[in-house]
Amino acid sequence: MEIKGTVALVTGGAQGLGLAIAAHLADLGATVVVADRNAETLANLPAPLEGVQMDVTHPEQVKAVVADVVVRHGRLDILVNNAGVIFSEPFVNIMNPAGMMHDYARFRDSLTVNLDSVFIVSSAVVEHMVKRRTKGAIVNISSISAGGNEGQTAYSAAKAGVNALTVTWSKELGRWGIRCNAVAPGFIGTESTHRALSESALKHIQTNTPLRRLGEASEVAQAVAATIQNDFINGVVLDVNGGLKI
Ligand SMILES: NC(=O)c1ccc[n+]([C@@H]2O[C@H](COP(=O)([O-])OP(=O)(O)OC[C@H]3O[C@@H](n4cnc5c(N)ncnc54)[C@H](O)[C@@H]3O)[C@@H](O)[C@H]2O)c1
Repeated sequence: MEIKGTVALVTGGAQGLGLAIAAHLADLGATVVVADRNAETLANLPAPLEGVQMDVTHPEQVKAVVADVVVRHGRLDILVNNAGVIFSEPFVNIMNPAGMMHDYARFRDSLTVNLDSVFIVSSAVVEHMVKRRTKGAIVNISSISAGGNEGQTAYSAAKAGVNALTVTWSKELGRWGIRCNAVAPGFIGTESTHRALSESALKHIQTNTPLRRLGEASEVAQAVAATIQNDFINGVVLDVNGGLKI
């Protein structure tokens, strides 16, 4: 798909990887709407990105925002499901006096924001694509943790679910000319990574990465664009991780 002239919706695009993806798609000539729950970061979006406040876990809000984008821009060709929250908690923590097992409410919360959200937003967008015969592209932002990352029970399960949705939808939606792929970043040098991991953990990761460094947000954005541009890539989970295996 030629990105120039398309309309794209990027969730969680007010900062981090989502912002890099949104800016790259805009550089390639797309009209980009960034949907994020954070009003403060949305207010500082660089031009020409258009911001809209939306919580990806609220189906009715999502439906209304997607319908509004379609009315205002006349179409919606690209969806990037990027919104998510990196979350770490071990399944068993014998040092926790309050209870040694992973908290179930936090497990559910992580599944809701990282997995249910992809279902909710895609469902609203695909309905418009199918009704309007739009040959669209969906890119889900997964993670290296989908393979099962120690200390990330909920997040790993959510991202493995995202990969399964990707492959399933690539099969179901192909008949309408809608492609669905995922990009699975490894450890990228974003603020969220530095927040989630200690300096020693980051050093360990870099030592174990064949390329001996963290990834750049722009490298994830380029991978997203590549899956959109190549019309025969469908049902792929594209690793962007410097060759790291976990
Ligand atoms: N940074 C990494 O190294 C890395 C690695 C692998 C995967 N990922 C994935 O990439 C995506 C982006 O991560 P990031 O590192 O840029 O995170 P980030 O925390 O910097 O940005 C996430 C954005 O999503 C928004 N968001 C969160 N919950 C939302 C909700 N319910 N509704 C709407 N917006 C919401 C936040 O406001 C924020 O703007 C996530 O899906 C994450 O799991 C990141």
